[in-house]
Amino acid sequence: MKIEVEENLPQMDTKLDFYSASRLTGDATSEDLETIKRHTSVYVYETPVRLWHWINALAILTLCVTGYLIGSPPPTMEIGEAAEQFVFGYIRFAHFAAAMVMTVGFFGRIYWSFVGNHHSKQMFRLPIFNRHWWSEVFFELRWYAFLEKEPKKYVGHNPLAQIAMFFFMTVGLSFMIVTGFTLYAEGLGSDHWLSTLTAPVMNLVGNSQVMHSLHHLGMWAIVVFVIIHIYAAIREDVMSRQSMVSTMISGHRTFKDDRPE
Ligand code: HEM
Ligand code: HEM
Repeated sequence: MKIEVEENLPQMDTKLDFYSASRLTGDATSEDLETIKRHTSVYVYETPVRLWHWINALAILTLCVTGYLIGSPPPTMEIGEAAEQFVFGYIRFAHFAAAMVMTVGFFGRIYWSFVGNHHSKQMFRLPIFNRHWWSEVFFELRWYAFLEKEPKKYVGHNPLAQIAMFFFMTVGLSFMIVTGFTLYAEGLGSDHWLSTLTAPVMNLVGNSQVMHSLHHLGMWAIVVFVIIHIYAAIREDVMSRQSMVSTMISGHRTFKDDRPE
């Protein structure tokens, strides 16, 4: 029986390897053992960053679906007597509830960039005066365009991802929060403190219709980001030299090879 097991493991170098390896991982080869003896993972995304990432992703998904429906309302549905149905009210309620979650989460994420590790600051500042950083931005552009054969290793975000996160999330979410709360203030009445606070934004933009259009356009920018982001996360998980999706789940970045460059 034991011989059968060994025969079914062609990757085992010797009998000895099988027994020493099996103590750790069952079917590990001696090569695997050598690899796991080294520290091949770095703790990058701390728990608050990961929690924020997934809560923010869910909130944004809700905001895009409900926001789209607010902009292009479904035809009137006869679910019950007019006084008994509240479909559009629920759509708006879901939008506002997700908006509050997203806003509180965003402020929490800003706070974490001050107290968290140095990777947590990446999304909020671009080292634009660093020439090496720019050379890596162009390298990443070529890598994403399939013009480079081998990718570089990154512990945190690669410079191109960092640019995308800065413009679409740090700037983009701030824009959505400012325009969204200015629209929300309209519903609260002109004597509400939020209307007083957001009046300069409304005056700058001109009127409510333009504000709606800008807020709506912001959604499409975020949708473009989300599509590219998910494509890049999965593509890099497969093609890069490091872990990707699981890093945003466990926080640990593992590397597929141990070459320093
Ligand atoms: C990722 C974030 C967000 C997205 C994608 C989003 C999307 C949208 C869209 C597409 C509309 C319809 C605009 C139109 O065509 O008239 C809308 C309306 C609105 N959004 Fe947002 N939004 C976001 C964040 C927020 C935030 C943070 C608030 C703040 C409370 C907010 C409050 C509103 C309000 C008050 C309206 C108008 C509702 C109405 O006219 O019935 N949104 N949103
Ligand atoms: C609405 C959907 C999503 C939004 C808005 C979003 C946004 C973000 C943001 C802002 C970051 C930077 C995190 C930080 O530095 O704090 C990030 C990182 C990341 N996201 Fe998402 N995300 C979304 C969905 C997803 C999904 C579905 C996946 C998995 C397939 C994913 C995988 C990742 C990964 C792997 C990273 C880390 C990338 C790296 O290490 O450079 N995201 N995302």
